[in-house]
Amino acid sequence: MKVAVLGAAGGIGQALSLLLKLNLPAGSDLSLYDVAPVVPGVAVDLSHIPTDVTVAGYGKDELADALTGCDVVLIPAGVPRKPGMDRSDLFNINAGIVKNLVEACGDNCPEACIAIITNPVNTTVAIAAEALKAKGVYNKNKLFGVTTLDVIRSETFVAQLKGKSTSEVVVPVIGGHSGTTILPLLSQVEGVSFSDEEVAALTTRIQNAGTEVVEAKAGGGSATLSMGQAAARFCFSLVKALSGEDVTEYAYVQVDGSEDAAFFAHPVKLGTSGVEEILPYGELSAFEQKAKEDMLEGLRGDIQLGVDFVNG
Ligand code: 2OP
Repeated sequence: MKVAVLGAAGGIGQALSLLLKLNLPAGSDLSLYDVAPVVPGVAVDLSHIPTDVTVAGYGKDELADALTGCDVVLIPAGVPRKPGMDRSDLFNINAGIVKNLVEACGDNCPEACIAIITNPVNTTVAIAAEALKAKGVYNKNKLFGVTTLDVIRSETFVAQLKGKSTSEVVVPVIGGHSGTTILPLLSQVEGVSFSDEEVAALTTRIQNAGTEVVEAKAGGGSATLSMGQAAARFCFSLVKALSGEDVTEYAYVQVDGSEDAAFFAHPVKLGTSGVEEILPYGELSAFEQKAKEDMLEGLRGDIQLGVDFVNG
């Protein structure tokens, strides 16, 4: 497998690259791209760790080389939030970055699975889809918005609240990756029950968890380490699936004929060619149904912003 990280010298990129260097299957190639001049150094640094994963660094004029032959491209490039900002405030800078990087994927590795981490994910995934369509290489089964951080945060918070091991807790999270569009399905968590007050408080905490980190970092950025772990988990699932194993993960994908939105995080069955099947998310409680109805218009607006950004 050849895996590229675009934005590899940033906070998420470095954490993610370390996890990939440690845990990708032996024989994999890790391709690290960034516009920051430190990227060859990050690659050399990682290359001294004794695993059977080859690391190469690529600077700003070497994007095509970084992408050629890639099976998976992970994109955390862009600017993070500062306190007081919403993910949508990053649109002006990050939209253009994602469009350029995804166009290069279309030119150099049109068959690769592309996983977008750059915020606002609700919008940048739509930008990526439109940019690939314009090049005639869009495959909806190979484009993902990474929402795994919402899943791992939910698992952590539920385990803490209920005194469980995180390994026993599975929490479905659907919708998008911003504020109220993040919808944890606490009614579907097996082996625990919640009071109405707990559901309301926990849902709000999960939806605001990114902001919790942004505020705690006090101007130093947003989640990098937990996001690195989340993106690595998603990447390992993709790599396993591309190698022939059956894997299911939650991800923000194009859902044809959805009554929710054109892109929506669902459980997805992954296989050798990306999404094999988008699975239903099951029954919602009355609380979850209302939360979903209340956020759909906002999510659809986020998606339309991405479509309009590319198509004018
Ligand atoms: C978060 O949820 C960075 O969007 C990321 O913290």
